[in-house]
Amino acid sequence: LKDLLFFYQGTPYPVSVCSAETFQALENLEARRDDMVLVSYPKCGANWLIQLLNDLIFTTSQTKHINTELPFIECGDPEKYQRMKQFPSPRILATHLHYDNLPKSIFKNKAKILVLFRNPKDTAASFFHFYNKALDVPSYNSWDEFFSEFMSGKVSWGSYFDHAVAWNKHIEDENIMIITYEDLKENLASGVKQIAEFFGFSPTAEQIQFIADRGSFEAMREKSQEIYGSVGPILFRKGAVGDWKNLFTEAQSQEMDAKFKESLGGTKLEAYLKY
Ligand code: PPS
Repeated sequence: LKDLLFFYQGTPYPVSVCSAETFQALENLEARRDDMVLVSYPKCGANWLIQLLNDLIFTTSQTKHINTELPFIECGDPEKYQRMKQFPSPRILATHLHYDNLPKSIFKNKAKILVLFRNPKDTAASFFHFYNKALDVPSYNSWDEFFSEFMSGKVSWGSYFDHAVAWNKHIEDENIMIITYEDLKENLASGVKQIAEFFGFSPTAEQIQFIADRGSFEAMREKSQEIYGSVGPILFRKGAVGDWKNLFTEAQSQEMDAKFKESLGGTKLEAYLKY
């Protein structure tokens, strides 16, 4: 397990996609005002949102440019920031990073930041399944072992709760909008409309419906192998709210409730997540 994770400034990351050299080079990323930044802790639905954002760009403009880089800014080789300079706007910059670790040019150049959240129980359940099935990432002997690592923030990208506490402080900052996995599940077309408005797109009702139809879990899972290769069906596993009930014991559920209250009780994020 240890070989598959490395620490950068105290936070564990998977060696398969992250490196110290890339983290050092990350400050070279020169953000643009019209970049579309997407922040989410792992397993909150980033790949879902990346497709929605791409579809928004493609359906409302003539752009047919496909970004060939890994969409996660902290993943890949350190030269990627040079190559990214060539990409036409708008670029999608996805990241799982903590607020403090975002490249400063994102704030300096006032790029808009969409912050996606998912309730921590389903996030942990999704994380556990993914890490046990995907190659090149640590797998765990049991759910109980994973649960305890997740609770103490020893999993890739660190603690859900630290990430949530940090982003919660900035929910009302200019250029930041929060959206939840659960709200998107409830009404995807309305979520797409909200996201479009935030980033300054004006899709028609038909375009919104087209994007929402393509973004359904079933539609995305069906195409997942073609687009993502063998990791596709692992990444698009179940796409449900409440699947945590199949893994958590009552005691674990209460432990997480207590941790949530302690970290985020009374916050805006608690209200957004309807926790
Ligand atoms: S990663 O590896 O951290 O980037 O994973 P990420 O893409 O953030 O999250 C994966 C979970 O998102 C679910 N997903 C969806 N749910 C509903 N609808 C759609 N269209 C959708 N697309 C992805 C995916 O199934 C993972 O959750 P679980 O619970 O494991 O199914």
